Amino acid sequence: MTFKQEIERRRTLAVIAHPDAGKTTLTEKLLLFGGAIHVAGAVKSNKIRKSAMSDFMEIERQRGISVSTSVMTFEYRDRKVNILDTPGHEDFAEDTYRTLTAVDSVIIVIDGAKGVELQTRRLMEVCRMRNTPVIVFVNKLDREAKDPFDLLDEIEKELKIDVIPLSWPAGAGSSFKGVYNRFEKKLQLFCSANRQKSATDILEITDLKSTEAWSALGDKANRQLIDDLDVIETVYSVFDKPKYDAGKLAPIFFGSAMNNFGVRELLNCFVEIAPYPQKSVTDVREISPFEPKLTGFVFKIHANLDPNHRDRIAFLKVCSGVFERNRIYFHVASKKQMRFSSPNAFLADKKSIVDESFPGDIVGLHDTGNFKIGDTLTEGELLNFRGIPNFSPELFRYIENADPMKSKQLAKGIDQLMDEGVAQLFTLKINGRKVIGCVGMLQFDVIQYRLEYEYGAKCKYEPLSIYKACWFDGEDKNQIDDFITRKYSNIALDKYGRNVYLADSAFALKMAEDKFDKIKFHLMVNH
Ligand code: G4P
Repeated sequence: MTFKQEIERRRTLAVIAHPDAGKTTLTEKLLLFGGAIHVAGAVKSNKIRKSAMSDFMEIERQRGISVSTSVMTFEYRDRKVNILDTPGHEDFAEDTYRTLTAVDSVIIVIDGAKGVELQTRRLMEVCRMRNTPVIVFVNKLDREAKDPFDLLDEIEKELKIDVIPLSWPAGAGSSFKGVYNRFEKKLQLFCSANRQKSATDILEITDLKSTEAWSALGDKANRQLIDDLDVIETVYSVFDKPKYDAGKLAPIFFGSAMNNFGVRELLNCFVEIAPYPQKSVTDVREISPFEPKLTGFVFKIHANLDPNHRDRIAFLKVCSGVFERNRIYFHVASKKQMRFSSPNAFLADKKSIVDESFPGDIVGLHDTGNFKIGDTLTEGELLNFRGIPNFSPELFRYIENADPMKSKQLAKGIDQLMDEGVAQLFTLKINGRKVIGCVGMLQFDVIQYRLEYEYGAKCKYEPLSIYKACWFDGEDKNQIDDFITRKYSNIALDKYGRNVYLADSAFALKMAEDKFDKIKFHLMVNH
């Protein structure tokens, strides 16, 4: 196969959802249809269930699972599909945002009864920022769900994207019988009593007006389906691929992941329409995946679960060229040459050493502490990939050393955990005190636990009431100096030495923005 063909057959995606909508179930069914796994239940949910075990144990269990399911790869209809896993718990949403920078498209799962939920809206904002193409799967139609037309309106309004239904449910709730595939123009009804086990007992009907359709579906349901499809034809225009590619139009699929309803339709359409690896933006120029020289960036770092082996796995997204085992590459951040003798590729439940990886692929690199999230590898060119944003954390605490004998270990542990992107560290200018900023409460527990068990260091937290961390810059140096002087006790430096204003309240931030009108405040920055 040529280099070009290798790239064009790759589909790298993330499945994202509000917790409980069915992300794990759908991912598993995609793997099942893709032949990557053979029994349902192989992909464990990486949700943190508070009741099941103590939080710490659960965090470790989750990390254990998520190493092996970080990337799930399978072949389907001559395409190579790479599904990038995202954390199940919303306290780790930042990991999800970062993973979204490494995919070429996403599938959003929505619970048909609940509609668009908070986390879905947030994730969609990140997709919109990057113009990521989006397909929506409306799940759990085997239960009572909202009316499908209402759901279309809700998705359009809440996710701020045009929609086009490419499949349509026949019946709903207890009378849900199957889905009409608008893409392939056929109705698929499910006959098997054991729906979860196989997708082979399917009755396919191409003509809805045939006697077969009337008798299989029943008068009422078939009439409803024909009427619905008529309305759809008139209201929703034809599928516009460039509009989908630009992230402005979302094809919508309906089904039930648990019962295998509508999943194959989704997968068939996905491999057909989803984009292959696209151009990536760097601080110097745009990179085409078809360029012969290697470029790639690290979007995730995973610490080894075994404390005796301190190495980590850095996940590199290949953006152009071919990543080859044992070749020498250039690490832009340190300006060092690096060689990797055992880069890993990932299968559904195991990893293996690969000799070559192509754009769209994810390679696992063993790392002894050289990589940070966002780092770039090239064949010598000085450039950095853009688009791995840092968002303002929501929760802040002072972090203090609880064991004076272990201050070195603590410093190293904090440093490495921040490199992994577990949380963000700010150092107050006024007194050098360190502040940890997190997205969710569980992250504080993770840090404390991991510092102790991986680095032998103990930390304690002290409360701190901060509203948001705002990075700031501007042309007017005098105004910046003036601002820093006046707000000195709230000014900190982030890990990269950038100025951050730790605003006490929304009001304080608004005042600062009004008063210092030449300063730009950002709740999100790129690396
Ligand atoms: P998540 O990863 O998005 O958090 O969701 P997950 O797949 O774990 O699914 C959340 C719950 O919804 C699970 O039930 C799962 O079985 C159920 N579910 C997923 N798809 C469907 C569907 O199509 N129909 C129905 N009725 N339920 C569905 P649970 O009770 O939390 O877990 P489990 O004990 O069933 O594993």
